[in-house]
Amino acid sequence: MTSATHAAAPVLELRGICKQFPGVKALNEASLRLFPGEVHTLMGQNGAGKSTLIKVLTGVYAPDRGSIVMEGRAIRPQSTQDAQSLGISTVYQEVNLCPNLSVAENIFIGRYPRRFGMVDWRAMRAQATALLERLEVRIDVSKPLAAYPLAIQQMVAISRALNISARVLILDEPTSSLDEAEVQLLFRVLSSLREQGMAILFVTHFLDQTYAISDRITVMRNGEREGEYAVAELSRLALVNKMVGAPEEAPQAGDALQEARPQGEVLLQARGLGRKGALAPMDLDIRAGEMLGLCGLLGSGRTELARLLFGADRADSGSIRIGERAHPFSTPRDAIAEGIGFCSEDRKHEGAILELSVRENVIL
Ligand SMILES: Nc1ncnc2c1ncn2[C@@H]1O[C@H](COP(=O)(O)OP(=O)(O)OP(=O)(O)O)[C@@H](O)[C@H]1O
Ligand SMILES: [Mg+2]
Repeated sequence: MTSATHAAAPVLELRGICKQFPGVKALNEASLRLFPGEVHTLMGQNGAGKSTLIKVLTGVYAPDRGSIVMEGRAIRPQSTQDAQSLGISTVYQEVNLCPNLSVAENIFIGRYPRRFGMVDWRAMRAQATALLERLEVRIDVSKPLAAYPLAIQQMVAISRALNISARVLILDEPTSSLDEAEVQLLFRVLSSLREQGMAILFVTHFLDQTYAISDRITVMRNGEREGEYAVAELSRLALVNKMVGAPEEAPQAGDALQEARPQGEVLLQARGLGRKGALAPMDLDIRAGEMLGLCGLLGSGRTELARLLFGADRADSGSIRIGERAHPFSTPRDAIAEGIGFCSEDRKHEGAILELSVRENVIL
């Protein structure tokens, strides 16, 4: 569905939303429109304000200014439960359900089916099983949620949203920890929910996923809405330019740039570097004074390569040379001693120790 064919009225509209944190204007007159029966992707660089906008929409933060209109009525959700009861459900990257309760209980928390005043466990299990089957998930719903992988936990969270009869489903970076097959399952589910008329707001940093699933894109930059586009009308290059605020006619990467830049000496040379099940043997040169981009689909081995170079995982084939010397990378400590730094993909779990202060993290 494109902007030309969507139903006339948005199911949800945010207008002029402002939100100030101490020292940071996270949202500055931000806006967003969601139509029934669409997958809408919210894109923007780190810190653009995507999560803050979603938290305003779901009652986690009160906006300083601005309005939220749902099906023509102004709403002001005060909490996530409040937003849920209005038909707005959110599935977070870190699933916020109760790991020790059963899958069925998680779907029905707060609304257990009852019979003669007692919780009707049998009905609850049957309904939970049926809800999950709609999402192609066939599991034992009496087991604790924690017994299942994250992808299944997300499906449970989506089932819960369906059971609350959500009309708007929000997913903030739901695919970051899923493998390719799990992403495909999630996308099939989202497509079928779209067919049923649900409005789906999806936040991701993955361009391929954006183009695979969404109908429209809202680009955010510096807390503002840069623009709203039908996916078919926006090339990937144009999208990236809009996210970073580059002019439309920015020079395309490639020859001109390459020629202008003197080639530095090779600082790091990898030959046949690989690890079974993660990365097929490959060669790589990194030169002084260059910024080298690794691109590829999710699961293509980019992270795996970076981890091998840093010694976070051990290679089982190939070699690495630093300058003139062969370097047997076996631990991150060796890599750091050679002057190699690593900023992890998973900022929260690997990149920093959140219990320590900023100062302690820096000198660690
Ligand atoms: N609770 C908070 N207190 C103070 N500043 C905050 C808070 N939450 C977000 N910010 C700041 O507001 C800005 C917008 O952050 P937000 O998390 O909405 O960005 P984002 O687009 O979701 O980024 P990412 O892609 O990294 O998830 C950032 O500068 C961030 O540091
Ligand atoms: Mg975010």
